[in-house]
Amino acid sequence: MIKIAKIIDLLAQTEYISGEDLADQLGVTRAAVWKQIEVLRELGYEIKAFPRKGYLLCSKPDRLYPWEVGKGLNTQLVGKNMEYYDELPSTNLQAKEMLGSLSEGTVILAESQTQGRGRLGRNWFSPPGIGIWMSLVLSPKLPPVELPKLTLVAAVALSQAIFEVLGVRPLVKWPNDLYLNGRKISGILTELVGEMGRLEYLILGVGINANQKLEDFPEELRDKAGSLAMICGKQIDRKVLLRRYLELMEEEYFRALREGFAQTLEYCRKYTFTLGRKVVVNGGVKTLSGTAVGIAEDGSLILEQNGKEFKVITGDVNLINKEQE
Ligand code: BTN
Repeated sequence: MIKIAKIIDLLAQTEYISGEDLADQLGVTRAAVWKQIEVLRELGYEIKAFPRKGYLLCSKPDRLYPWEVGKGLNTQLVGKNMEYYDELPSTNLQAKEMLGSLSEGTVILAESQTQGRGRLGRNWFSPPGIGIWMSLVLSPKLPPVELPKLTLVAAVALSQAIFEVLGVRPLVKWPNDLYLNGRKISGILTELVGEMGRLEYLILGVGINANQKLEDFPEELRDKAGSLAMICGKQIDRKVLLRRYLELMEEEYFRALREGFAQTLEYCRKYTFTLGRKVVVNGGVKTLSGTAVGIAEDGSLILEQNGKEFKVITGDVNLINKEQE
């Protein structure tokens, strides 16, 4: 069988390459090459064939194919295995269904989700081809109280990746969103899977609004949601951003396992969308309000109300200042 990544590399290396040369270099017959070229065309690669000159790769599709994202990916665990789908109900759900057969570090990707899930039972708007909708499967050997901090690890890694790739730094809205210019550009949904209180897997579901225009969002999201393209004023190469995110995610994850979460928390305090603001926190059962004054070492949010401080372990934060979210 011909490896897709290999034939694409060969096509991309020179301007024209003959069927014969491809066959020689891949160690297969010319008929097998021809078949594979047809497969690539079906996947959206524009490949022209010229008599006497050979094949010419004219363009690549804007898809998060694993062999494209994985090209040059410098990780040991995260993204070593990627499962790619055109459409799924939800990458988090798919990860759960496949858990027994997935290795740690597997990334599930979908070009679109029909039932993308957000926190507190909300929907996550996931149109085809313009966002990054992914779930990363981890099985960290950490005490249960440490686990919520992995959502912050994922947020910090993504903020850093966006900064490196696009030169703008999103702020972390505790505990699971990224904001840029006052608009939500990413949300994270962490789900735990285990038995009798023992964690087996943690699924980090990450949604990144990459190339939406404002009018692509449903009306009710338009004053709050944004995409990286809207803010940076240019088309985002989703592959490049995703690749760097996976690398930084691994770096931050390994650091947290090795040294703890001090650096993660420091980043969240420094590049914060939450601290210093008046907020209402919906914890599912209870709603609390106050000024967000800090993030504690255990990752919880410190609220101050009438001179008293108290901690919120998790919840959905809404700003109650005029700038709002
Ligand atoms: C939130 O802000 O409420 C969290 C949104 C999380 C969305 C991502 S998209 C990929 C993964 N699959 C899902 O169904 N949800 C998460």
